[in-house]
Amino acid sequence: MAKYKKGKGKLQGPSMAQKADRHILYEASVQAVDHEVEFLSDTYFALRGRRPRSLREDFCGTTNAACEWVREHKDNRAICVDLDPEVLDWGRTHHIARLDSDQRKRLKVIQGNVLEVKTPPVDLVVAFNFSYWIFKTREVLRSYFRQAHKALKDDGIFCLDIYGGPEAHEEREEETEYDDFTYVWDQSRVDPVTGRSLCYIHFKFPDKSEMKEAFTYDWRLWSIPEVRELLSEAGFSKSTVYWQGTDEDGDADDVFEPVEEGDADPAWIAYIVAER
Ligand SMILES: C[S@@+](CC[C@H](N)C(=O)[O-])C[C@H]1O[C@@H](n2cnc3c(N)ncnc32)[C@H](O)[C@@H]1O
Repeated sequence: MAKYKKGKGKLQGPSMAQKADRHILYEASVQAVDHEVEFLSDTYFALRGRRPRSLREDFCGTTNAACEWVREHKDNRAICVDLDPEVLDWGRTHHIARLDSDQRKRLKVIQGNVLEVKTPPVDLVVAFNFSYWIFKTREVLRSYFRQAHKALKDDGIFCLDIYGGPEAHEEREEETEYDDFTYVWDQSRVDPVTGRSLCYIHFKFPDKSEMKEAFTYDWRLWSIPEVRELLSEAGFSKSTVYWQGTDEDGDADDVFEPVEEGDADPAWIAYIVAER
C-alpha cells in the first residue's frame, strides 16, 4: 500500500500568513512613531518657543503614536480618536496595557468620529498616514479641518502628512523586503476623473503564503495647494510645508524642513503644519 501515499513527508500546519498579525506587520512597515513624536515636539518648539504637552491623535488606529507621546515625557497627555472598535481593542491589549500606570492615566481613548468628537483644547492635533484622504469632497474635508481647529488651544498646531508625485497617480505595486516578510503597497485603481485612489496593503512571507488586502484605503488624492486652501478656509492663520530631505546618496532621510517650493520628485512625502 505504501506506493499509494501522496504526502511529501512534511507536517502541515498554519502558514506564516495565517499565523501573522496584520497590525504588527503594519506598524513594523508603515509607522515610525519615534520620528513623528520628535518632529512634532521640535516643530512646535521652533514655532512657539515651548514644548507641546497635549496631543490629540485623530484616526489613531492602534494608538501607537499616542502611546509613544505619553512615554516620551512625564507631563505629556494624549487623546486618541478612531471609529473602529477592533483596532482600538488591539491597541488596548498591545500598547496601552504595556504602559505604566502613570502613563496610562495620561492617555484617553475615544471610539468616535473625528467629524463630530468634542475634546478639551490641546497643543497639537495630528492626522497621520494620510487618513484624512478618506474625506472626498471639499465640504467634508473643510468641516474636518474646522473640527481640528476647534480642538486646539489658541497657539495650537495641526499637523498632517501628504504624499504625491507622478507615481502616486499610477496603478502600480511596490514591494519592500523586511527580515520576515514583504510589504506590498498596491495602488490598485487610480481614477483621474474623480481623483479617487483605491489602495491595498498585502503581506507576503518566505513560505510563499500571502495575506491579501490586509488593509484597504479608499481615498481621494488631495494636492498640497488644495489642502492648504481648505485649511485657510477652515480658519487656520498659516500653513507651512515641511519637505523631506535627502542624504548624500540622494535617498530620502528623516529630516523635514520648511519650504516655499518643492522638487518635482516622482514620489514625495511632506508634512503640512497649520497654525491656529
Ligand atoms: C490609515 S489608518 C491610520 C492609522 C494611524 N493614524 C497611522 O498613522 O498609521 C486610518 C484609521 O482611521 C480610522 N477612521 C476612518 N474614518 C474615521 C473617522 N471618520 N473618524 C475616526 N476614525 C476614522 C480607521 O478606523 C483607521 O483605523
